[in-house]
Formats: sequence, structure tokens, C-alpha cells
Amino acid sequence: MSDNDDLKALIRTIPDFPKPGIQFRDITTLLLDPHGFAQAIMRMAATTLGPIDLVAGIEARGFIFAAALARPLNAGVLLIRKDGKLPGATIAEDYALEYGTDRIVMHADALAPGKRVLLVDDLIATGGTARAALRLLRKAGAVVEQAQFLVDLPDLGGADALRADGVTVDSLIA
Ligand code: PRP
Ligand code: HPA
Repeated sequence: MSDNDDLKALIRTIPDFPKPGIQFRDITTLLLDPHGFAQAIMRMAATTLGPIDLVAGIEARGFIFAAALARPLNAGVLLIRKDGKLPGATIAEDYALEYGTDRIVMHADALAPGKRVLLVDDLIATGGTARAALRLLRKAGAVVEQAQFLVDLPDLGGADALRADGVTVDSLIA
């Protein structure tokens, strides 16, 4: 039994969501379990490298983990959102989807250059979302040395692509 098999057991697989042939890893069942959720945050906190100023979470499920992780790390929370949701002036980054493109944004004044930022999301698949978030944070002047995920789907190559962008990538479950 590997270290996080207890957490893996709290994630369920829903076949054919959102499309036929996709095995969707559903983390809502882990969130429903008080001990499991607390353990996940504790283990992510223990894996965090160095002091950081801000935890950047990606909408929507990434917010849950970023906000919880920011408390033990004594850091603030920076929201990376889908376009059209933030009220202030934003900077944006586009990324490719299977069909078309999507856009994520953050407030242009959310961080001062040189701030140390930990990038967090619930899951990395192709890495398109996380890599766009990394570009966005770097464009704003952030120092991003690490990205953390609850779940990595390694067959899709996202974590390796993100490592090639120059960050340490950690996940509790593959
Ligand atoms: C999911 C997940 C990641 C992203 C991973 O979010 O939470 O953000 O997809 O996929 P990728 O590595 O291939 O980019 P989704 O867009 O479904 O948004 P949600 O959190 O709002 O449900
Ligand atoms: N689960 C949750 N989010 C996802 C998945 C998945 O299997 N694939 C891409 N985003």
C-alpha cells in the first residue's frame, strides 16, 4: 500500500462523463470526508517547498484546495478565474482545448513582482490549464517554483510538461 492509498480510496470514478469514453475522477467524495480532506491538506502543506506569499488556485475546484492550504502555510489566496468573473483590471492567458480555446484571468494588481507563489489545482490532466496559469503568474512577475495537485493523470502528460516549464510538480495521487 503506498502512502496515499487511503486518499485514493476516497476518489470515485464516473464512467462516460462528460463524454462517452472518459473515466472521470470525482474528488467530491474526498471533500465529503472530514478526515480525508484534512489529511489531503496536511500532506500538501508538508510537501510545500520554502516559504511562500500566495497560494494561487484555479477556478473552480482549485479554489477549495488553495484556500484550505493557504491557512497552514500562512499565505494569501490568489484567484485565477475563467474570463469575465473578476471585477478589476485583469491580465489574461489563452490555452488550447480539444476544440477551440479557453481563457483564464487574474487581477493585474494581485501581486507585486518577486512574490513567491504556489500554484494549486485539484487535478492535472493535459496540463493546459496549469501551464496557462503559470504563464499568467510569471507575466505578473511572480516567482513560481512549485505546483501542487491532489490528483495527477500521468498518462496525459501534463505534469511532465509543467516540469519542462521549470517548476517542481507534486501530487498526492496518480
Ligand atoms: C479541471 C481541473 C483542472 C483542469 C485539468 O477543471 O479542475 O483545472 O480541468 O485539465 P487539464 O490539465 O487538461 O487542463 P475544469 O475546467 O473542469 O473546471 P472546474 O474546476 O470549474 O470544474
Ligand atoms: N476528473 C476531474 N477533472 C478532470 C478530469 C477528471 O478525470 N479530467 C480533466 N479534468
